[in-house]
Amino acid sequence: MLEPLVSVNCLRHVYPDRTEVSLCGLEMEVNPGEIVAVLAANGAGKTTLLQHITGMLRPVEGSVRVFGLDPYEDFERVRPRLGVVFQNPAEQIIGPTVGEDIAFGMGHLKLSRQEQDARVEAILQRLGISHLKDKVPHYLSGGEVKKVALAGALVTGPELLVLDEPFSQLDMAAIKSLVSLLRSVSREDRTAIIFTSHQLEPAALLADTVYVLNGGQVAAWGKPVEVFQQQAVLEKSGLQAPDLFRLVALLQQGGLEIHADLDVEKVAAEILAAVGG
Ligand SMILES: Nc1ncnc2c1ncn2[C@@H]1O[C@H](COP(=O)(O)OP(=O)(O)OP(=O)(O)O)[C@@H](O)[C@H]1O
Ligand SMILES: [Mg+2]
Repeated sequence: MLEPLVSVNCLRHVYPDRTEVSLCGLEMEVNPGEIVAVLAANGAGKTTLLQHITGMLRPVEGSVRVFGLDPYEDFERVRPRLGVVFQNPAEQIIGPTVGEDIAFGMGHLKLSRQEQDARVEAILQRLGISHLKDKVPHYLSGGEVKKVALAGALVTGPELLVLDEPFSQLDMAAIKSLVSLLRSVSREDRTAIIFTSHQLEPAALLADTVYVLNGGQVAAWGKPVEVFQQQAVLEKSGLQAPDLFRLVALLQQGGLEIHADLDVEKVAAEILAAVGG
């Protein structure tokens, strides 16, 4: 078996004001090609966890390994292999124009000017934002800022993409197109992805594996369809199972022999078969 790209084991962080954030109870892993979601309520420590993975914070206790290295100690070796989008991506867009900002992230690759330009054009096109190339980042809409930051994270061809709340502020159409883009990045480029979310439905569309955090512990983990059936655990963790899972649970309690699924059409077909037959 291949070594995990990321492993987090009983991490504890103490901020200068003594706020303590911990993540224990289970080793969290991201394997090559895997898409992992970290689901938890506001303030549970999702961003803190990602900042350890990206080497911006160092744990007081526990271990974080990325590509087999310590991301804080070996920042210079780990960081170029990552693509990162912050929870507030406006903070990471620093170029005077969108195109220049995206090119900026490739500085360490030592590419020719033409190669850089070609890569910028290609990534803008892939994200459907070629028209924003010469725009001043300050005037972008919230959804556009997210896309530009993602373009900057993808343009280097990272082995691991780290996304903090990629779905917040996006409308339904934007969520769907982001899910299909990230799926293609994962499939075609073999980029592993770890992302956080407090919204379970979009996370379920994308993730192979989800981890639910609560009170400094991993409260549940597994495939989305398995974890979303653990309604009591989700509620204790300040999250709510998607409506489709709650409906299936109620119908199961009422005696219908149906299975939970992420696909509404499949569930509808099972319900119709159960009541009709
Ligand atoms: N720089 C900091 N100094 C002090 N406390 C902090 C700092 N950053 C985060 N915290 C605290 O650490 C805890 C975890 O915060 P974190 O931002 O990791 O949560 P989160 O799960 O990402 O929340 P959200 O869903 O709101 O983004 C919170 O109690 C927060 O107040
Ligand atoms: Mg956060």
